[in-house]
Amino acid sequence: MADFKGSTIYQIYPKSFYDSNHDGVGDIRGVIEKLDYIQSLGVDLIWSTPFFVSPLNDNGYDVEDYRKIHPLFGTMEDVEELIREAEKRGMGLMLDMVFNHTSTRHEWFQRALAGEKDYMDYYIFRDGGADTPPTNWQSKFGGSAWEYVPSLKKWYLHLFDVTQADLNWENPKVREELKEVIRFWKKKGVKGFRFDVVNLISKPKIFEDDNEGDGRRFYSDGPHVHEYLKELVADTGIGDLITVGEMSFTSLDHCIRYSSPEEKELSMCFNFHHLKVDYRDGNKWALMRPDYRKLKELFETWQTGMEQENGWNAVFWCNHDQPRIVSRFGDEKKYWKESAKMLAACIHMLRGTPYVFQGEELGMTNTGYTDISEYRDVESIHYYHILLNEGKSREEALQILRQRSRDNSRSPMQWDFGTYAGFSEQEPWIKIPENHKKINVAAEEADPDSILHYYRKLISLRKQYAVIREGAIEFLYREQPEIFAYRRLLEGEELVVLNNLTNREVVLPEAVSCQNSICLLHNYPEELFQNTLEMLRPYESLVLFKRYS
Ligand code: GLC
Repeated sequence: MADFKGSTIYQIYPKSFYDSNHDGVGDIRGVIEKLDYIQSLGVDLIWSTPFFVSPLNDNGYDVEDYRKIHPLFGTMEDVEELIREAEKRGMGLMLDMVFNHTSTRHEWFQRALAGEKDYMDYYIFRDGGADTPPTNWQSKFGGSAWEYVPSLKKWYLHLFDVTQADLNWENPKVREELKEVIRFWKKKGVKGFRFDVVNLISKPKIFEDDNEGDGRRFYSDGPHVHEYLKELVADTGIGDLITVGEMSFTSLDHCIRYSSPEEKELSMCFNFHHLKVDYRDGNKWALMRPDYRKLKELFETWQTGMEQENGWNAVFWCNHDQPRIVSRFGDEKKYWKESAKMLAACIHMLRGTPYVFQGEELGMTNTGYTDISEYRDVESIHYYHILLNEGKSREEALQILRQRSRDNSRSPMQWDFGTYAGFSEQEPWIKIPENHKKINVAAEEADPDSILHYYRKLISLRKQYAVIREGAIEFLYREQPEIFAYRRLLEGEELVVLNNLTNREVVLPEAVSCQNSICLLHNYPEELFQNTLEMLRPYESLVLFKRYS
């Protein structure tokens, strides 16, 4: 079994990473050209979001052919070279498998549309009149989750965009097809797989209206999901690779089952509960200040719950669907550096495998777009119109997008001081934040105190200290919402992690003695570090290590 506990995973959104042929869109050769940089971070695996043939309505999460590379991103030779070159540098490639749905342009769906019975059974078609969808379920991107096909007089299910049709996993032929895709990529030397919204693959037997919600309670962690995952893993022999499932609206009990080694399903799970603490009444499009008490409770529940039952968490703040964390829970301005470092330490010292999303290691911020024409994301554009229809003004709707849009994370990687931040010589497909002259790799390489160097230290600590990889976890100051603190313990080793989540000084409920401890990491200058800590400065963060004989 690969060492997923000791690994750190770097996520790349190729469209926005580096544009090697200067057409304004990032590509696979761009990733190859930047492999030395990625290696310099100390990461083990590179997860790339999809680069397969696709109409790109959802930027590649709408796959038309799982075995072909979209020409915009490059060729199969490029991917093979990426795998080889990454390996030379001690890193592996993790591919993103979107198996809950395919693009409606996929050959299977096209044949289904042509009325081929075999292929209709690859998807979820239901009878019904043109005016009455089979259920009232809502798509995650807004609107009904069903689309009517007049020529077939049937509806098909799409939990996401109308061009992303849900696959019918009940059909053994579908499961076989998907296994073949995995075998194909495994043979090419891929070292890991991320499975997109994989806890949604098993739909209920009976489709009924949801009078309490949008339907998700019927299909999240559905009836056969564990069976299907076990079968997929066993029949493709990927139990020895690093695998992670993206779990939407999931529960701790299910994630224990998905990730505990005895179950032989996945290495670990992403869950998103901690990234909803600033959603008002659970609604992403209703703004609220983050509830830190809730955040702490959630981390505690998931960390200790997974530990007790031998499950494993993927730990993260950022990905291509989330706003930038420094803009969200930190401070983009006065305490930009301190807060970005503090948030990084919160995650990297937890029990779990940390993920870093491109640019997070620089403290990249939200993009600050001011006009709807600047957005590219299908979800953001849908919701803009939904918000207007609900009666919000343009300014209100844009204000919400400025904080919640997925495009906040999809702006080009900021490499240097150039016009387009060194990402491309052409105007990029999506706008670059104004602050790229200050926040970029070149600037941070030159600054010994940069966020970039801090991430490198955090990543290397995981390699050096077994307590970070393996230690038990215990939460401290549980009643104090401003302080996110925990202890990690492993035979004679102790790590204490203290983080002030706020921009105010906070007095510690009990003074912490630092005697006999080594301070492994601190986001304020060392000379201010005292032997007894009584309070934490704004966004202050410390990692203390002690060895008992
Ligand atoms: C996942 C992806 C997201 C995509 C969705 C549908 O949540 O991360 O980007 O839109 O699945 O595939």
